[in-house]
Amino acid sequence: MTGSTIKLSSGYEMPQVGFGLWKVDNKICADTVYNAIKAGYRLLDGACDYGNEKECGEGVARALKEGLVKREELFIVSKLWPTFNDPEQVEPVVKRQLSDWGIDYFDLYLIHFPGALKFVDPSVRYPPGWHHDGKSQIVKSKTTIQDTWRAVEALVDAGLAKSIGISNFQAQLIYDMLRYARIPPATLQIEHHPYLVQQELLNLAKEEGIAVTAYSSFGPASFLEFGFKHAEALVPLLKDDLITGIAKKHGKEPSQVLLRWATQRGLAVIPKTSRPEILAQNLDVNSFDLDQEDIDKISAKDSGIRFNQPSNYFDTQKMWIFG
Ligand SMILES: NC(=O)c1ccc[n+]([C@@H]2O[C@H](COP(=O)([O-])OP(=O)(O)OC[C@H]3O[C@@H](n4cnc5c(N)ncnc54)[C@H](OP(=O)(O)O)[C@@H]3O)[C@@H](O)[C@H]2O)c1
Repeated sequence: MTGSTIKLSSGYEMPQVGFGLWKVDNKICADTVYNAIKAGYRLLDGACDYGNEKECGEGVARALKEGLVKREELFIVSKLWPTFNDPEQVEPVVKRQLSDWGIDYFDLYLIHFPGALKFVDPSVRYPPGWHHDGKSQIVKSKTTIQDTWRAVEALVDAGLAKSIGISNFQAQLIYDMLRYARIPPATLQIEHHPYLVQQELLNLAKEEGIAVTAYSSFGPASFLEFGFKHAEALVPLLKDDLITGIAKKHGKEPSQVLLRWATQRGLAVIPKTSRPEILAQNLDVNSFDLDQEDIDKISAKDSGIRFNQPSNYFDTQKMWIFG
C-alpha cells in the first residue's frame, strides 16, 4: 500500500488519506473512481445511501482490468443504512452492496448511523433514505445496536468484511458497545473540521484503540448546496484568514492545511471532489508539517457546529441522533 497508513485493531492497515464518494454524481462516478485510483487513492469511502455503488464498481473494474492496481491494494469501505439494521437484513444487503461494487469483500464496513429504522424492501426503493414512505414518515425499528453489531460481527466470520466499525456514534453508545462487542469497532467515522473538533470523542477513541476518520473536513463547504443557513452564515474555512495565512506560509492550498491539521493529529481523511484537477492536491497532504502553534490555533476555532445531522435535512418528522 502506498502512502501513510493507520494500523487498525483488526490487524489491517488503512490508508490515512482516501476518497469520499458522497454526492459524486452517478454520471461521472465511474470515471471519478477510476481517476482517483489513477491519481493514487487506495481507499474509497462509499455507502448504500450514496446511490452510486454500481458506478463505483465500474470505476474499480476498469482500474483492475487495466492493471492500475490489484484488488488487495485497494481499501474499499461501505456502510449499513439504518433501514437495514435489523439483524436478518444485514447480510443480504451487504451481499447486494458487494455485488454492486463487483467485489467479494469490503475492507471496512460501518454502521452508518445509530437508530434503526423499519426495513424498506430494496424492490420498493433503493437506496431507501430516511423516510419509510419515501416522503415524510420516520418509522423506527425495535432493533438495538447490540443486535445490529452481532450481525455486523458475523460479516467478519463470513469473510464479507475484513474490518468493521461505526459512524456518527457518540461516547455514551461507544462505551456501551465496548462492553458487549466480541470484535471491537476498528474505526469511528465522524464529522470533523475546525468548527466541530469533538476533542473528548477523539480522546475516547484514542484510549480505546479506535481509529478515527474525519468526514466533511472542509466544514460548511459540503452543505451549502442544501441551503443550510448556518453553513452560509459562517466564514468558509477555505477562505478563513488563519487557514489561508498558514497555507501561504507553507506554499500549500487552504484545503491541504485543513486535511493536514487532521492527519497530523492522527486522523484519517476522505475528501471528496468531482473535479479531476483537485484529486492529486487533496491526496498530497502529508508532505509538509504544520507548526504545533498553528495546529492549536486551528483547533481553537472549535464552535461545536454540526452540519450533517438528519434533523437539518427535512422539515417533516425528524430524528435527533446527536441530541
Ligand atoms: N459517515 C457519514 O455520515 C458521512 C457524512 C458525510 C460525508 N461522509 C464521507 O466523507 C466524504 C467527504 O465529506 P464531504 O463529501 O461532506 O465533503 P468534503 O470532502 O468536505 O468536500 C466538500 C466540498 O469541497 C469541495 N472541495 C473538495 N476539494 C477541494 C479543494 N481542494 N479546494 C476547494 N474545494 C474543494 C468539493 O466540491 P467539488 O466536488 O466541486 O470539488 C466538495 O463538495 C464524503 O464524500 C463521504 O464519503 C460520510
